Amino acid sequence: MLQLSKVGPRSYSGDLLVYLARQPGKGSPRCGAGPVDEAVRRVHALGDFSGKEGEHLLLYPEKGKQGAPSAKRILVVGLGKDELNRDLFRKAGGTIASLAMKSKARELLLVVPDLDSDMLEMVEGLSEGIVLGAYRFKKYKTKKDPEASGEMLQQAALYAADSKGVAKALKLGEIAAQAACKARDMANEPGNYWGPGNFSEYGRQLAVAHGMTCTVLDQARMKKLGMGGILGVNQGSARPPEMVILEYAVKPNAPTLLLVGKGLTFDSGGISLKPGAGMEEMKYDMCGGAAVLCAMQAVAQARLKGVNLVAIVPATENLPGPAAMKPGDVITQYGGKTVEVVNTDAEGRLILADALAYGIKKYKPDMVIDVATLTGAVIVGLGHHRTGLLSNDDNLCDRLLASGMRSGEPLWRLPLDPEYTKQLKSEIADLKNVGKRDGGTITAAAFLKEFVGETPWAHLDIAGTAWDFTEKSYIPKGPSGIAVRTLFDLVRNWRG
Ligand code: BES
Ligand code: ZN
Ligand code: ZN
Repeated sequence: MLQLSKVGPRSYSGDLLVYLARQPGKGSPRCGAGPVDEAVRRVHALGDFSGKEGEHLLLYPEKGKQGAPSAKRILVVGLGKDELNRDLFRKAGGTIASLAMKSKARELLLVVPDLDSDMLEMVEGLSEGIVLGAYRFKKYKTKKDPEASGEMLQQAALYAADSKGVAKALKLGEIAAQAACKARDMANEPGNYWGPGNFSEYGRQLAVAHGMTCTVLDQARMKKLGMGGILGVNQGSARPPEMVILEYAVKPNAPTLLLVGKGLTFDSGGISLKPGAGMEEMKYDMCGGAAVLCAMQAVAQARLKGVNLVAIVPATENLPGPAAMKPGDVITQYGGKTVEVVNTDAEGRLILADALAYGIKKYKPDMVIDVATLTGAVIVGLGHHRTGLLSNDDNLCDRLLASGMRSGEPLWRLPLDPEYTKQLKSEIADLKNVGKRDGGTITAAAFLKEFVGETPWAHLDIAGTAWDFTEKSYIPKGPSGIAVRTLFDLVRNWRG
């Protein structure tokens, strides 16, 4: 969708020419193009445009007029006067995409401004913002009329006077954003169209496309391995469970990072049935699985070199069929620990425990990150802006906090003292799967902690951010694609 253009704004005669302008202390905002600045000055004098962040101005130049630009439309987007950072450019990119889609533009040319800011950061932010902001999910709408819906944007080109390194920045931004959009697609798919088998299918496709290895453990193999968590959760469902394993190897002496994502393709709660209102949202309970597969996609597509990666997605539905697990049942997780299942709705931790213990035993990773829509409690605590982060390793936390910040996906660390684990004591098994209601996000993480041993590990509870995430121009309603870009950034910036 994105390209670097050799054609400058003067010779451009396409659908939409876009400029970005800072809000000046005094006077009118400037784009650096005489006739456009002249028009901006007039509008500014009326008090209608000052270059504030998010403000925009759409102009229709007169054709053939002496000195007038030959583009059909001109858009000026305000950048405000505050500090310039990557998220500001992401937001500008999102604004550009949605305004372009509202008009009838099929393509646009964006002039990268000459600002006192890291050029490559700026280009990456803009390219992420445009791709993320242009995202729509229309697959199940039968009325396919792009003109009526005004969504015709096919291509966006960027023009930079100094184009050194710009093509690469543009590409990296696009790769990250497209991977996040793919994660949004998976999440938008309804439960009847996206089940465990679809995760395996996508994992295999990625392996073929990018030279990775994909292995899928089926139900029989899980039984042999003793994965009582995922098998137990799956008991009430007509579709078998699948455990998708994708390996991206760079070099043997590079560190190995294991990613585990909750791939619960629909969570009814099981026998501990959830209330009906809003239950449809539980098709999103697979967003962790989507995030880790799509992060692998981005890493492989960008051919990042720093770390060997393994992604595991335990995938199943949680339904109350006749053979479903019952409250009080005792299961044996991979590795031999027994768990009393007090609440069948606390299923995420059961499937993750098998995947974590298996992945750690098999791949001996240097560190592990799991991503899961694990608890409603994280929404109570952190709302819809920050992902919950719980970990046994300060260094891994620092890296994740920094990557989340750079990606516009901030995290917040919660404590995980050993005291919390006491809530998980069971009378008849090694552990029970729920504690008290209080501190629910922490006790869920404390449960997972029992299955990672000494391996540096971080858990991302994305229940509040996987959908209904902070409203921004580049974040649509519905699933956000959270954690894909954070994980991509983490791998990109991995050093030592
Ligand atoms: N998938 C849910 C968590 C969830 C809730 C995600 C709301 C997004 C929005 C998870 O499987 C679950 O049901 N957790 C229970 C745990 C409880 C039974 C201890 C919860 O949070 O209520
Ligand atoms: Zn649940
Ligand atoms: Zn769940």
